[in-house]
Amino acid sequence: MSDCVRIALPKGRMFEDMLELMKRCGYSFETSNSSRSLKLFSSCGQIESMIVRSQDVPTYVYYGAADLGVVGRDVLIEHEDMDENLFELLDLGFGRCRIVIAGLKNRKSLPSAVRVATKYPAIAKKIFQERGTSAEIIKLYGSVELAPLCNLADVIVDIVETGKTLEANGLEVIEECGISTARLIANRVAYKTRYELLNKFISGLENNL
Ligand code: PRP
Repeated sequence: MSDCVRIALPKGRMFEDMLELMKRCGYSFETSNSSRSLKLFSSCGQIESMIVRSQDVPTYVYYGAADLGVVGRDVLIEHEDMDENLFELLDLGFGRCRIVIAGLKNRKSLPSAVRVATKYPAIAKKIFQERGTSAEIIKLYGSVELAPLCNLADVIVDIVETGKTLEANGLEVIEECGISTARLIANRVAYKTRYELLNKFISGLENNL
């Protein structure tokens, strides 16, 4: 077993924030935009970062391919079935976005059974169940804002950060349903068996938030 801390990091918005946080803890990484390498080692050699799709972070941690992972609360809720092997350690604070129901600005009144397009079927199901509204959930993998424009769905459940994508597509927030931020997660077995190694790294993060 590697004597590095192995951490799965999501590509995109949270990646840079996490590199910045690790830098404050004294771990620097050589990154270059042209590199296609999916593994990065810190200069000190103590941290091995794996760069994965955000939705895949829980999977790497669940199977123990990574000890730790950084993932949005939104994605974590979608992977609640993985709780037996992983758990949340820290709210890292960055990557803040709203989880919303959104629809066309010029929409007609919604039908009693709404069609909902989303990348987050578990979250969407929960939201509409809590409201006692019957909903047909349509799972998409991206560009969800397109669905109401093409009559694929009445509304979407999605995350909103700046609101620019909604605005650019003539959509508006109908209801805000929650907040998501980046979370540090750990594999349960690795956390016990590699406690000293991991805890040194985790304490560093906590002290530099
Ligand atoms: C997310 C989300 C929205 C967009 C919101 O998608 O699903 O589409 O960001 O951001 P904004 O409020 O700042 O405009 P992402 O960029 O992750 O792309 P994807 O659709 O390919 O998953």
